[in-house]
Amino acid sequence: MSRLTKLVAAVVALSLMSAPRAAGQARPAGADAVERRVEEMLARMTLEEKIDLLGGVDDFFVRASGRAGLPRLKMADGPNGVRNFGPSTAMPSGVAMAATWNPQLVERVAAEIGRDARAKGVHFLLGPGVNIYRSPMNGRNFEYFGEDPFLAARVAVGYVRGVQSQGVAATVKHLAANNSEFDRHNTDSIIDERTLREIYLPAFEAAVKEARVGAVMSSYNLVNGEHASQSGHLQMDVLKREWGFDGVLMSDWGGTYDGVAAANAGQDLEMPSGVHMNRKNLLPAVGRGAVAAATIDDKVRRILRTAARFGWLERDQTDLAVPRLNMRGRRVALEAAREGLVLLRNEGALLPLDRRKVRSIAVIGPVAYPAVPVGGGSGRVEPFAAVSFLEGLGNHLGESTPVYYARGLRTLGEMAEATEFTTQPAGGEAGLRGEYFTNAELSGEPTVVRVEPRVNFSRQARLFPPQALSSRWTGYFTPKAAGEFDVFAASTGEDAGFFRLYVDDRLVFDNWSETRALVRLTTLELGPGAHKILLEQRGKFGRLGTRMQLGIQRRGEMVSPEAKALAAKADAVVVAVGFDHTMEAEGADRTFRLPAGQDELIRELADANRNTVVVLTSGGGVDMSGWLERVPALIQAWYPGQEGGTALAEILFGDVNPSGHLPATFERRWEDNPTHGSYYPQAGTNRVEYREGVFVGYRGYEKAGTKPLFPFGHGLSYTTFRYANLSVRRVGGGERAARGPAFEVSFDLTNTGGRAGAEVAQVYVGAASPAVPRPSKELKGFAKVSLRPGETRRVTAALDGRAFAYYDAGAKAWRVDPGEYRVLVGGSSARVELRGNVNLTPAEATTLR
Ligand code: BGC
Repeated sequence: MSRLTKLVAAVVALSLMSAPRAAGQARPAGADAVERRVEEMLARMTLEEKIDLLGGVDDFFVRASGRAGLPRLKMADGPNGVRNFGPSTAMPSGVAMAATWNPQLVERVAAEIGRDARAKGVHFLLGPGVNIYRSPMNGRNFEYFGEDPFLAARVAVGYVRGVQSQGVAATVKHLAANNSEFDRHNTDSIIDERTLREIYLPAFEAAVKEARVGAVMSSYNLVNGEHASQSGHLQMDVLKREWGFDGVLMSDWGGTYDGVAAANAGQDLEMPSGVHMNRKNLLPAVGRGAVAAATIDDKVRRILRTAARFGWLERDQTDLAVPRLNMRGRRVALEAAREGLVLLRNEGALLPLDRRKVRSIAVIGPVAYPAVPVGGGSGRVEPFAAVSFLEGLGNHLGESTPVYYARGLRTLGEMAEATEFTTQPAGGEAGLRGEYFTNAELSGEPTVVRVEPRVNFSRQARLFPPQALSSRWTGYFTPKAAGEFDVFAASTGEDAGFFRLYVDDRLVFDNWSETRALVRLTTLELGPGAHKILLEQRGKFGRLGTRMQLGIQRRGEMVSPEAKALAAKADAVVVAVGFDHTMEAEGADRTFRLPAGQDELIRELADANRNTVVVLTSGGGVDMSGWLERVPALIQAWYPGQEGGTALAEILFGDVNPSGHLPATFERRWEDNPTHGSYYPQAGTNRVEYREGVFVGYRGYEKAGTKPLFPFGHGLSYTTFRYANLSVRRVGGGERAARGPAFEVSFDLTNTGGRAGAEVAQVYVGAASPAVPRPSKELKGFAKVSLRPGETRRVTAALDGRAFAYYDAGAKAWRVDPGEYRVLVGGSSARVELRGNVNLTPAEATTLR
């Protein structure tokens, strides 16, 4: 090693799964005092009072119990900040946190979320969300930590520790197999035990065993034929018995379907209120022995124990010393945004932009302004202020460099408003015939019939007749000339988000029983003449507001001339495209395609200016086939939180060297995704069969030999890194030690470029000739390492038995087989730089629990 090279043994955050703190073993400090206190409190309560405690109240509270001395406990969403009770720091969303590959940073982010929670007197923070990314369409991917269970587990542990360091209980959610939003109360995830254990449960397991998470939330969906909230297997056998979870297991909001079944299956608390777990149902059930009194006691103990453990019995949870406008939170939000943005493509080293050469810049697109810090639904946080990409660049460049702005496209509302219909193919009135029914089935006579000039219902614009439970609009669309048209229909998602659209009697969008996308989009070839339109909607608009929009726009005419002119004139162009909280949100999925007109916007601006950078706001992959080859640079911004605009400007101009890496594979085509044939329910059923098994994400692409567009773990930097001198060494523990065979993987990582930068070094393990089908490699360690130009560090990763194990469902244990294993090290799942081997002897073969 050269004398100039300073060798530092990097103490890197690698990845030991700590031993399970199973019941009765290694009790946390103070546990006995807590338990004594809990018993005293419990003894003062009547059965009625105990049962009352098991149902929430006022949407986000656990009832106080005067006799027991339990204060009323407050909850708030989660996970991107503290959503309820007024504005808070909007952190980069979950997937962006995962893209930092920096669990220590996530811990600091979560500590600030915890402080914001204390400022609002919140006891339970309803996050993190750790459901695995199967398909880019899942409307809640943005809240979660990506496709890999190991990465998700490390990030989840950081998150839980951060929140809980502030005396706030984190709530890991949603247990389990809740990987889509299109019909979330009814879908049944059909999934084998091995896949559950290896892919979908490890992040929950780590949150419980390593971070001792205070609460767990179950999911809306069914798992193998049973509501998750009634799954004794998941909740009792796995969570409580096997993992030793001693906190509160709550339902999702309205995710309890049967009080007795949920109570017996381990649910401790029904949220938001005791619709099922209440006196009416549980008192007689206890009386007839259908629910044991001891079961009720156990639930109450868990609530009391959590309150005692977190100090809620001693202090007022509202900490007025924490400023609501959290400036430290703001700084950490910026740090996380800087580390979470991923530079996906940088042809010809367009980036970083040179301030001396770029004398003007145009920032164009629907996501340029205002800021889009988070997606929609319960994960949406309203910050005090958020820096849009436009403002971030403006602030960064100041007065000397003009930052031009145009939206470039109409809003969906404007597109709907600009779409003209007639009630008859020729003649007739302008508009559509609207029929409104007070039943949900469009049956009988409509109660209101009127001509609607457009389908553009929203809180701001037109409203539905208030009693309507289903509606129908009929009429004609006559293009000025034949051509290709983008057709979209937008709704609010569940509750009222059900609609179907027919064009010329052909079913174009079917959102009638599943909200496959909040905003459906397709392209139709329309000939001259009138085209028959029939749009039907059902459901009552409620919590999520009113929205039903229908737009038909000619392709090739969507981009504003002003945007094109600005793009041609500026030295560089930033096109900010993607989704927002009205298009990518809880309660519905989204399209793989970018929203209407955005592909066209990118193409036309890239044609106008070679120095075009696309900045993408989304929870995951999108269809880039229509434009990627035309643009030199692409940055994945996710939902970057309130400071996203500042982080983007710093990265574009090289003040910050990008270091985010993908926590999910981005596919070239949706057809390439391993879940393509299994993401939606089997026709005519509610069964979502996880047929890809453990081969989710990169595990599946590698098995199929399909090259993704951007592989899992990919992320570019403005500097370069070299990997060298791999060593894989057996360490302590001895054979058949509690955690199985242990190894230390170490290697040299050098910054070979001219700028300081951070690499995400990844360690993958794969069995050379496995006894059961296994992924060719799986992430088992990683480290984010910052290096000055020329600096080298020795990076170390620890592997324990779990790194080599697969779950043997028959034996109900993790099995480590003897044989050869590859140890692969590199900067992405597809960029392996170093290869090593370990050979596990028959004596090292073991099972782990
Ligand atoms: C979501 C949960 C959330 C809860 C409370 C539900 O609709 O699924 O993630 O914590 O609402 O807002």
